[in-house]
Amino acid sequence: MCGIIGYSGSKKTLPKLIAGLYALEYRGYDSAGVAFFKDNDLNVIKSKGRIDFLKEKLDLELDSNCGIGHTRWATHGEPSDINSHPHGTDNLYIVHNGIIENYAEIKLQLIQKGYVFVSETDTEVAAKLIDFYYCQTNEPVSAIRKAINDFRGSFAIAIIFKDYENTIFGTRRDNPMLIAPANDGNYITSDISAVLSYTKDFYRPEEGDIVTVTSKDIKFIDKNDNEITRTLEKAVWNREQAEKGGFPFFMIKEINEEPDSIRRTLTPRINNGLPSFDSPLLSAEKIKTYDTINIVACGTAYHAGLIAKFAIEKLARIRVDVHLASEFRYNNPILSKNDLVIVISQSGETADSLAALRLSKERGVPVLGVVNVAGSAIAREADDVIYTLCGPEIAVASTKAYSVQIALLYLISVHMAYTIEKIDESVAKQLTSELVENIHLLIQKVIDSSETFSEVADEFKDAHSIFFIGRGIDHYLCCEAALKCKEISYIHCESYAAGELKHGTISLITEGTPVIAIMSSEEMKEKMISNIREVKARGANILLIVRDGIKIPDGIVDNIILIPNSSELLFPLVGATAIQLLAYYLSFNLGIDVDKPRNLAKSVTVE
Ligand code: M6R
Repeated sequence: MCGIIGYSGSKKTLPKLIAGLYALEYRGYDSAGVAFFKDNDLNVIKSKGRIDFLKEKLDLELDSNCGIGHTRWATHGEPSDINSHPHGTDNLYIVHNGIIENYAEIKLQLIQKGYVFVSETDTEVAAKLIDFYYCQTNEPVSAIRKAINDFRGSFAIAIIFKDYENTIFGTRRDNPMLIAPANDGNYITSDISAVLSYTKDFYRPEEGDIVTVTSKDIKFIDKNDNEITRTLEKAVWNREQAEKGGFPFFMIKEINEEPDSIRRTLTPRINNGLPSFDSPLLSAEKIKTYDTINIVACGTAYHAGLIAKFAIEKLARIRVDVHLASEFRYNNPILSKNDLVIVISQSGETADSLAALRLSKERGVPVLGVVNVAGSAIAREADDVIYTLCGPEIAVASTKAYSVQIALLYLISVHMAYTIEKIDESVAKQLTSELVENIHLLIQKVIDSSETFSEVADEFKDAHSIFFIGRGIDHYLCCEAALKCKEISYIHCESYAAGELKHGTISLITEGTPVIAIMSSEEMKEKMISNIREVKARGANILLIVRDGIKIPDGIVDNIILIPNSSELLFPLVGATAIQLLAYYLSFNLGIDVDKPRNLAKSVTVE
C-alpha cells in the first residue's frame, strides 16, 4: 500500500524523508520518490524498485528543510520511474494515496485545456487539476478545495507549491493522514509508524480538511472553509505495533481490511448499477465465442477459481474447468483457440501459474490475469489483467486476497451472464448491488463477532485431524477452510464433499473427531442433514457453520455459528471471513507464529 511522509523543520529534509520511507516499507511498495525545496525551486527525484535505489540518487547532505516522499504500490500503470510519485508541474508537486475514480474524465478535460501527461497515473491527473485551479486562483487552499470537489474516490494528498517555500499542504477523504508535531519540526504522514522515532503526538485531519504545515505552524481549514482546531492525540503503539495497526499479527489485520478492499476493488467496476469491465477479453463478442474457460492457479487462488467456476457456470452457463497450475503443463491440457484462460494470483509471481500462462499463450489461447501485484510477471505477460485492489498481503496465509478474488470473480460472472443475456437486467442489478452495497457490511458483522471464533477454536486445539464437509459451493469453501486451518495450525485438516464421506473417509470418524460442516443451501439442506447425522452416529464433535435463516433440527450438532444472511450464491464471501477467523484463532491460541508458518513462503517463485 502506498505511504506518505512529509517534513518541514530545522533539520535536513532528505534524511528525514528517507527514514520515513524505510519505516513505510513494511506496507509493500514498488517504487519511491521525493520532492523538496532547494534554492527557491522544487526538485523531484524518483526511482522504481527499492528505497535504496532512490537513496543512491540523493545527496542526503543537501541544504533543504522541507519536502514530501512517497512509497508507491501501483494501481494505475506499472511500477516505473515515470509512474512513481511525486507528480506535478512547474508550480507544485504532490504525493497521493488512494484512487481518483473519475481520473479518466478529468484527464480528457485537462488535455483539452492543453495539459500534457507523461504517466498512466490518476495522481498526475490530480496534480494537474490542482495546478489548473491554482493558475486561476493563485492561492493553494482554494485551488485544492476546487480540485477535491471534482474528485470522486478516496485520497490522502500532500502537496508542495513552489511559491510557498517550506510549506506542505495536505488533505484527505476516506484515507488516513496524520499531522505529527515534533521538537525538530512538523511531519505529515499516512502512517504513524513513519514518525514514531520523533514523536508520539499527532492530529487527525477530518474528511475534507485542508491542512497547512510549516516548521512552526499547523493550520486546519475544515470542509466549510472555516479555520478550526483539531485535538492532539497520542499514539499508544510502538513501531512494530503500529505497522500492524495495533493487531498482534498481519493476518488478523488483513482480515479486518476485507470490507474496504472489496469495496475498493468493485466500486470502480460498476456503471449504472451494472458491472462494467473495459477488458477486450470480456467484451460481448468475445464472451459469446468462449467454449470453455480454463482457470489456472495454485493454493488459495485455486480455491477462488473453484468458486468462480460455480458462479460462472450457474449464471452464464459457460463451461469452466479449474486446473492446478502445477499440474497443468504436464497434463497436455486440451485447449482451443475459442477458450479463455484466467490465471488467478495474488503475487503475480507464482512460478507454476506463470508457466501455465506461457503454455496457454504458446497454444494461442488468450490469457486474462486476475492479479494483486501490479507489474508482476503474470500481470505483464497476460494478454490483459484485472487487478484486485487489496494492497499488499504480508501474512503467508492468504485472506483478503482470496476474499477480494472471489468478489471480483463474482462480478465478472454477473457481467458475463448479463452480457450474453443469460440473466436479465434486474437480476444483474440485484446481484451487483448486493456485491457492492451489502456484502462488506455482512463481512464486517462476522469480523465484529471474532470472539466467537476464538472460543470455538479453543475447543479444537487438541485435535489431531479436523474434517470439513459441505456440498456444492460450500464444498469449495471447505477446501479453502481446510487449507487455511492446516497451514497455520499444523493440525491435519481435510475437506470432503459431504456425499463422498461414505466412500472412504467416514472410517476415520471416531468418538470426538471434529467435523466442521458448512451449509448455505436451502435446496441441499436435507442431504446435508443426513450427512451430519451419519458422522454424528460415529461420535463426531460437530460445528455447523450455517447461513442464518436456514432452520435445522435441534440437537444434531454440538455447536452452531450463524453467518449473516446473504443470498445463497454469494454466501462464500461472508463464509470466507468466518473460516479465516477460525484458522487464525486456531493458530493464535496454539501460540504459533501466525504470519510465518514453518516451511512456507509467501510467494512461491520456484516450481
Ligand atoms: O501468489 P499466489 O496467489 O499465486 O499464490 C498461490 C499460493 O501459493 C497461495 O495462495 C498459498 O496457497 C497461500 N499461502 C495459502 O494461504
